[in-house]
Amino acid sequence: MTEPARVQRGLEEVVALESRICFIDGKLGRLIYRGYDIRDLAAKATFEEVAHLLWYGRLPNVRELADLKGRLGDLRRLPDPFLRTIEALPADASPMDVLRTAVSALALYEPAETKPGATAIAGAERLTAALPSILGTFHRRRRGLPALRPRPELSQAAYVLYAILDRDASELEERALDVALILHADHELNASTFAARVTASTLSDLYSSVTSAIGALKGPLHGGANERAIELAEQIGTPDRADAIVKEKLARHERIMGFGHRVYKVEDPRATILREWSRKIGEAKGDLHYYEVLERVKEIVHQEKGLYPNLDLYSGSVYTPIGIPHDLFTPLFAVSRVSGWTAHILEEYEDLRLIRPTAQYIGPTDLAWTPIANRT
Ligand code: CMC
Repeated sequence: MTEPARVQRGLEEVVALESRICFIDGKLGRLIYRGYDIRDLAAKATFEEVAHLLWYGRLPNVRELADLKGRLGDLRRLPDPFLRTIEALPADASPMDVLRTAVSALALYEPAETKPGATAIAGAERLTAALPSILGTFHRRRRGLPALRPRPELSQAAYVLYAILDRDASELEERALDVALILHADHELNASTFAARVTASTLSDLYSSVTSAIGALKGPLHGGANERAIELAEQIGTPDRADAIVKEKLARHERIMGFGHRVYKVEDPRATILREWSRKIGEAKGDLHYYEVLERVKEIVHQEKGLYPNLDLYSGSVYTPIGIPHDLFTPLFAVSRVSGWTAHILEEYEDLRLIRPTAQYIGPTDLAWTPIANRT
């Protein structure tokens, strides 16, 4: 056998490819989308501008932004037979499973967009427009409400909120969600984006690649952490109870969801921004208890483990006071990240090489064949 290679468990610090889309400086706590600092984008941009930036490589001008918003608005209407597919799914299904199934099913109605390459940008826009409609359709159906109206005139953030809440959002709610969508839109080679790129690198289509990504995002170590973080905040209830509960979990070697990161060695800049929105929304709704509990949890986890919060700690404390149910938090992550996934899939198609690493085999190689009658 050849000399054993050094295995980087979890591919930690392995540079797998070149990309022009997203840069994370884990030491300085900086996040850059195509050259722009996330703090500027969260303060000044809209989700639609960011999606344009990710897909087309530059910020849109007035006409390009209006055109993109028009296209996304039109694409909110889903094919009737496809809507019936969503309505036929079990009402108690997990919305993440619904999203994964629906993206895969939607491909059956869009054969031209399932070819890798040139038409993939159309698929990127269609999926970004369709995900809120899929979630809204399913969420209404499970509450026994009539079909969702597509509302092409609304911004992406306002439409997402309308689709979930069945009411028009306030300006503050719309901006809070817009910022959350911007912050979740891309994050370099995170697990779900890598899954998308691996699938695309086999020359498979955009819908299959996004389906892979949704499966990867679902896990609690990735996008699923946000639901667990708010559950912890609810279990704690008031800041004075945080000390005992968090320390007990740490003593049992449990992970505190919403803390730690593979790349950031300081606070995730998205967490810093969302924390401020958690406070703003809490103040506007007259209920700061999520914000205050999470502030205390942040202090304890840092003091005990030296870990910093990531964005999943705070997203639920922005969504819950607005009225978004917990099981839609991770799907909302997908509603935004689909813009980043598809930008990466497009980039993969431009400079494609099959992603196929190797494993260090650590099993036996010289076993003698045993006839079945002689096996114990
Ligand atoms: N709570 C308690 N201990 C932790 C945590 C945590 N959240 N995160 C890391 N640690 C500990 C871990 O137990 C280990 O300790 P020891 O060396 O004593 O065994 C050490 O820190 C290193 O952990 P690791 O798992 O090797 O680090 P990683 O780079 O593989 O993990 C992570 C990154 C995000 C999976 C991890 O920090 C974690 O599980 N966090 C909780 C889940 C979470 O919040 N996920 C969202 C990530 S950001 C948004 C996204 O991309 O989805």
